[in-house]
Amino acid sequence: TMEPTAGTSTGATTRASSVPLPLDAGFFQDPQAVYAALREEGPVRKVVLPEAKGWQAWIVTRYDEARAALADPRLLKNDRVALRQYLDPEQIGEFDSAFVEALQAHMLSSDPPDHTRLRKLVNKAFTSRRVEALRPRVEAITEELLDEMARRGADGEPVDLIDAFASPLPMTVICELLGVPQNDRADFRGWCTVVMTDGGEDSDRTASYAMAGYLRQLIAAKRANPGEDLLTGLVQARDDGDRLEENELIAMAFLLLLAGHETTVNLIGNGMLALLRNPGQLDRLRADLSLMGGAIEELLRYDGPLNLATTRFTSEPVRVGDVEIPRGQIVLVSLASANHDEHRFPDAGRLDVTRRSSGHLGFGHGIHYCVGAPLARLEAEVAFTRILTRFPNLSLALEPHEVRWRQSTLIRGVEHLPVRIF
Ligand code: HEM
Repeated sequence: TMEPTAGTSTGATTRASSVPLPLDAGFFQDPQAVYAALREEGPVRKVVLPEAKGWQAWIVTRYDEARAALADPRLLKNDRVALRQYLDPEQIGEFDSAFVEALQAHMLSSDPPDHTRLRKLVNKAFTSRRVEALRPRVEAITEELLDEMARRGADGEPVDLIDAFASPLPMTVICELLGVPQNDRADFRGWCTVVMTDGGEDSDRTASYAMAGYLRQLIAAKRANPGEDLLTGLVQARDDGDRLEENELIAMAFLLLLAGHETTVNLIGNGMLALLRNPGQLDRLRADLSLMGGAIEELLRYDGPLNLATTRFTSEPVRVGDVEIPRGQIVLVSLASANHDEHRFPDAGRLDVTRRSSGHLGFGHGIHYCVGAPLARLEAEVAFTRILTRFPNLSLALEPHEVRWRQSTLIRGVEHLPVRIF
């Protein structure tokens, strides 16, 4: 259904016309089917996003081209500059950020030299060594949440793994790291869910206003009462020199909180779901926990937390395969598709916890490569190890067809994952 013509030609000329990206219920249920059809046609395809979005873009779906695109300095991230200076108004329709301005000036939507300066400010906090120091705390939070899960599931009742564990673990860790007080965390989680869900532009704006206002207050509080946390560190970096604008500080806190939580929850959720659906793989891993590091990479490759694509803008014409993408276009680099490219990962649709999955694009590639990857890996390692060890009889408490995926183009994850523990 991806091919607008009779499905015969795969030439560059045919692909210069755009096909609608079918972002419907079927897509959210099985996005890999859509990606497979696109990869079949070629490494890049011009597409038009459905009604609410309405803009056109070029989606890169094969591994080699996706990896090259992520490292290409002509593909930029800063949409504030792009919208003003070079995006083609014909192509972009209503493409616009629903975030208030104060939340936009973060590293993931910046290009060098701003990106370099912003990233340097937090790089140190996320080195493997600094992150390893968080392990005892991650273990303690994990144990506490699993105790509570065990209590709630003791009588054989299903427990929602997302609400009871996968969501609170990364949320607690990132909030402690940044210094967000316990009482404010529930609000924060609500706003995150709203801004990560497609659709309501109005609710997005409302939630993002609330978040920006909250972060502004929190920063003022850190300034008045410095703590040991990362946010205090950033406030001091701002106040020491001119390295960080107030908006950049707010946006940095926003990005870290959002990225630190919305993704890792689904690495744990999608990962447990994949393992429970592949009992042979689950047993293999449980029998040899030294496979855990590689298994987590495989889970990221197989069904990672990001859905459709990460966005870039062409600052000049860029050739991808046999197609030249003009200047001023939106490029969607599909990490989830690249990770299922058969040329790079043979038998890509099969979960194999012993596969050599390194080189997957689940954390991106190039200068924007996930700064939080060591933290995400640590949390996942502790989470999977402890769940598998403590709950040897863990099972899904719903039929495979009852799994409901979030209707989000940004995030790939399930709303709930009811499990039986005993
Ligand atoms: C960037 C994935 C966890 C913070 C990225 C990118 C990806 C990604 C694909 C690059 C996006 C692009 O190039 O457009 C993930 C996944 C995670 C995860 C799959 C969990 C399994 C985290 C955590 C944190 C975090 C725990 C924070 C503590 C960031 C930040 C960036 C980023 C700040 C922007 C880096 C930059 O622009 O230089 N992440 N992430 N992420 N991630 Fe993560």
